[in-house]
Amino acid sequence: MSHTENIYAVMGNPVRHSKSPAIHREFARQRAIALEYSAIHVELGGFESALRAFRENGGRGLNITVPFKLEAYQLADRHSARAEQAGAVNTLRFEDDGSAYGDNTDGVGLLRDITANLNHPLVDQRVLILGAGGAVRGILDALLEQQPKQLVVANRTVAKAKELEKLFRPQGDIRGCGFEDLRGKRFDVVINATAASLQGDVPAVPKDVLETNALAYDLMYGDKPTPFMIWAKGHGTTRTCDGLGMLVEQAAESFFVWHGVRPDTQPVIEALREAVLEG
Ligand code: ATR
Repeated sequence: MSHTENIYAVMGNPVRHSKSPAIHREFARQRAIALEYSAIHVELGGFESALRAFRENGGRGLNITVPFKLEAYQLADRHSARAEQAGAVNTLRFEDDGSAYGDNTDGVGLLRDITANLNHPLVDQRVLILGAGGAVRGILDALLEQQPKQLVVANRTVAKAKELEKLFRPQGDIRGCGFEDLRGKRFDVVINATAASLQGDVPAVPKDVLETNALAYDLMYGDKPTPFMIWAKGHGTTRTCDGLGMLVEQAAESFFVWHGVRPDTQPVIEALREAVLEG
């Protein structure tokens, strides 16, 4: 049992290598908030009971990662508008009245990394997203709010991209298509949200989709540039970035949802970047 009432954790599978505990402990140190934050590995099919056990132990909030974000959405009693839109929850806050509030901070995390940290406004930009899975659902709302000139979602399985087009059409001008349909089109920002990097692969997009000096952003991160970042460097741009900044920014927004104060993200991103390179 804990001596503090501020018990938080991230639940996922796998979760052992999660950087969320280090990030939240550092945020808490910055803001002089006493808390515990651990990583909890949850077996597939065991999410609901893990959640119950965590709450019985006095847990106040959770980050949820793969593959439980949809289940977390279903188990939350109330949702933020952005979680509603995404149909997925990455942040749960347990209220004093016993209810669970579900939020999704992934979209705003990506947005802050691109617009504030990388200083790349999205308004009037031609933006291409590769992939149409859960990660994409979580970021479309935030991207559309920036009123890009174009937002195209391209996916290997075209029907999934078309489905997202239909779902998000009320929020703005969004198109879904296949990789082949990108032929002859160029974009100022290309975001790789496919799982291709995990297989050491790059989505099969035409080689000239990147405008000169476009921003090529991969939601994945690692101890070296992802295959997509390497590909982008050989195809028209030097501006590439991985998803480490987004990870810290989504954590910062969760921190705000729980504690009502904003941490300073820049030093945390820098420290993690160094640790990742050394590790
Ligand atoms: P996540 O929650 O990370 O988005 P997901 O819902 O399983 O995970 O989605 C994975 C995405 O990566 C999908 O868009 C998938 O394309 P399909 O819908 O056609 O399966 C995409 N993906 C995975 N491997 C890929 C590859 N080698 N090339 C291109 N796209 C790939």
